Parts: sequence; structure tokens; C-alpha cells
Amino acid sequence: MSEAAAIPLDARAPVGMVGGGQLARMTYQAGIALGLTLPVLAEHPDDSAALSGAATSIGSPGSLEALRAFARECQVLTFDHELVPPAHLAALEAEGVVLRPGARAMRFAQDKAHQREVLGALGIPVPFNRRVASVDELAMFGDELGWPCVVKAITGGYDGRGVWIFDDPRQASELFASGREFLAEAFVPIDREIAVLVARRPGGETVLYPAVETVQVDGMFRESVAPAPMANDLRVQVGELAQRIAEATDATGILAIEFFLAEGRVVLNEVATRPHNSGHYTIEGAVTSQFENHLRAVLDWPLGETWLYAPAVVTVNVVGVSETDPRANLRKALAVPGVHVHLYGKGPRPGRKLGHVTALGDDPGEARERAVRAARLITGEETGGLP
Ligand SMILES: Nc1ncnc2c1ncn2[C@@H]1O[C@H](COP(=O)(O)OP(=O)(O)O)[C@@H](O)[C@H]1O
Ligand SMILES: [Mg+2]
Repeated sequence: MSEAAAIPLDARAPVGMVGGGQLARMTYQAGIALGLTLPVLAEHPDDSAALSGAATSIGSPGSLEALRAFARECQVLTFDHELVPPAHLAALEAEGVVLRPGARAMRFAQDKAHQREVLGALGIPVPFNRRVASVDELAMFGDELGWPCVVKAITGGYDGRGVWIFDDPRQASELFASGREFLAEAFVPIDREIAVLVARRPGGETVLYPAVETVQVDGMFRESVAPAPMANDLRVQVGELAQRIAEATDATGILAIEFFLAEGRVVLNEVATRPHNSGHYTIEGAVTSQFENHLRAVLDWPLGETWLYAPAVVTVNVVGVSETDPRANLRKALAVPGVHVHLYGKGPRPGRKLGHVTALGDDPGEARERAVRAARLITGEETGGLP
């Protein structure tokens, strides 16, 4: 038998990723162990994944020509973000390009109205919502339901950009002048936010990760604690809902599903059909990282186990507070015992996700304390002597 038989005789890469952000960078890193070279389609040569050493094509995900050219180099395409026009995805599929997740699944992540409509109709609990196109329509919604109200851009929002909370409909007048489409939804009195990752193969086989608690600041993910502290019946319910959602979307790869726990109930917030910030803890904290399981699922390979290596796994984002290069303070952070630092190679800017830190431990409070300290040493919010 020829030794080359294990590798498909195809000059194309087994899988390529559209988008060159930190998710592509970490997926590329996971691919190395599996003998994969993950080409990426990045917009700029200094995108996070382009700087990782991944074979990079430069092109916009908004350009069908760029997508087509990239698709010719890969057997399967997957995504680091959902900001690819749905019409382009449909066109690629019609031309025979294998997309995982496919266009239909991607729509759940691209269109919050579609997501709520389809999953709500299946009996998944979603916040009460309605499309609104004017201050008057928002006023009617809020007067019916009570204030404050949440308004969300139906497409294109991420990291809380595209989510607003209003006490008065007049505060939204500029939004409605923008020409974007919006959804109004009930303000949920959130006790905790929870996220669950599912990895799903094309045939429907899934593995489920433990639910994590997530903390958002101004709508942007800041930290996760695994496992989420929550009652067992809710944990079971969240797992069942996640499985049903994964099936309903027919997605392949990682799905990250965000829930609210409010007044003893579980409510779906949103679904992403890709690796997610709430799953970065899996790199060191779980048997198989979300990035590796994304690749395995997308390639229809056996999925890896998802259990945790420690009683508590905490991940804290490194978010820029100044123009200070995060590498300048790296050594201070590395002196904190047992922390795993990931820097994304991105230029520093206040409010920008520059990296993350994960700490494993016996106690979530203690692990969090170390992760927070390391993250704050990197940003310069805390100073420590140089070791
Ligand atoms: N209906 C709601 N009630 C209360 N808070 C909400 C509601 N929807 C969103 N939020 C808050 O805003 C954050 C971002 O909203 P989300 O829809 O997840 O947007 P994004 O796509 O930017 O992550 C949530 O994590 C939550 O903290
Ligand atoms: Mg979200």
C-alpha cells in the first residue's frame, strides 16, 4: 500500500476558512496538529490569521469573485464570521462549492429575525419580538410590553454593536434614519448569561460541551466560567435545547448558542455557526478544543471528547485600554502562575479584543483572579514589577 494513500489525491486544501480574524488564527493553529494547512481568505495582510503563517489570499468576503477564486483552492469552505452576503453563499452552493456550514444554516447566524422566527416556531423559548421600522412602531411595541425595550440590528451586529436598550422611543430616531432593519424585543431581566457549544458533523452526529457562564460588558464578551454555576434541571434543559437548535439549523462545525437565565427560565439569545469567544476556554480547558472539533466536524471526521480538565476553567479577554502594545507587558503576565496567554497579533486600540487568558483551577474565584490579573497586566491596567 502506498504511504500517500491517507492523504486525498487532490491538490486543493481539505478545508479553507473565509475570514482572517483571531478565530481563523486559532483554527489554523488547531489544524497543524491534524496535518492540515488551513488557507484563509483575509481582507488585509495584517489580519490576525494572515500573520499566523496560514496561506493567505487577500480578498473581501463581500466579493463573489474573491470567494470563487478562494473556493477553487479548497475542497470545503468554512467561516470565521458570518458577514458574507447570503446571495453569495447561495451562488457558491449552486456552483457546487461545499460550504460547511451551508447557506441555510448560516442564515440563522446572519439574520436575528429569521433565527427567532424559525426557532420560536419550533417551540424554543425566545424573547418576545417584532420587526420595527419607525419610532412610532417602537413606541407601540414598548407601550404594549413596557420599557425599557431592546432594539437589535437584524443583520451585521456583533460584540454588542447592533444592540441598544431604550427607555424612550425617541432615543431611536437616528437609528431608524440609517436605513437598516431592526427588531424590537422584550428586555429580559437576566440573572445569568450562558453559552453552550455543540460540534456537529454533516450526518448529524453531535458532541456537546458543558454550559459556561459568560459575562458581557457593553454587549461585548469579556469572560467565561466553566462549568456555569446553575441548577441541574436548567443544565439539562439548556443541553436539550442546544441539541434541538443544532438539529434545526442543520449546521456543520461548531455552533455557539447563547442563552439567558431569567426568573428560573431558559431563553434563547442567539446562535453563531462558528467557533466563538465563549469557547476559547476549550483550548486548554477541555479534551478537544472548539477549533479542533470545528475542523473535525467540517471534515466529517470523528469528533473529540468535550469534558473539562479541571473543576474550574476561566477565560478573560484582553481588551485594549490604550495604544500600548500588549507584547510590551507580556512577561509580567507570564509570571502569574498557571495562566495561558493568547495574543492575536492585532494592533492595540481601546476597546479592541487583543487576546485572552485562560486559567484552570479547583476554584472558579481563584482561577478567575489569576486570569484577570494576567489580562490586566497585559493591558497596563495593573502594573507589576518585571520578573
Ligand atoms: N432582550 C434582551 N434583554 C436584555 N439584555 C439583552 C437582550 N438582548 C441582548 N442583551 C444583552 O446584549 C448582549 C449582546 O446581545 P446579542 O444579541 O448577543 O448581540 P451580539 O450579536 O452583538 O452578541 C447580550 O449578551 C446581553 O447582555
Ligand atoms: Mg451575542
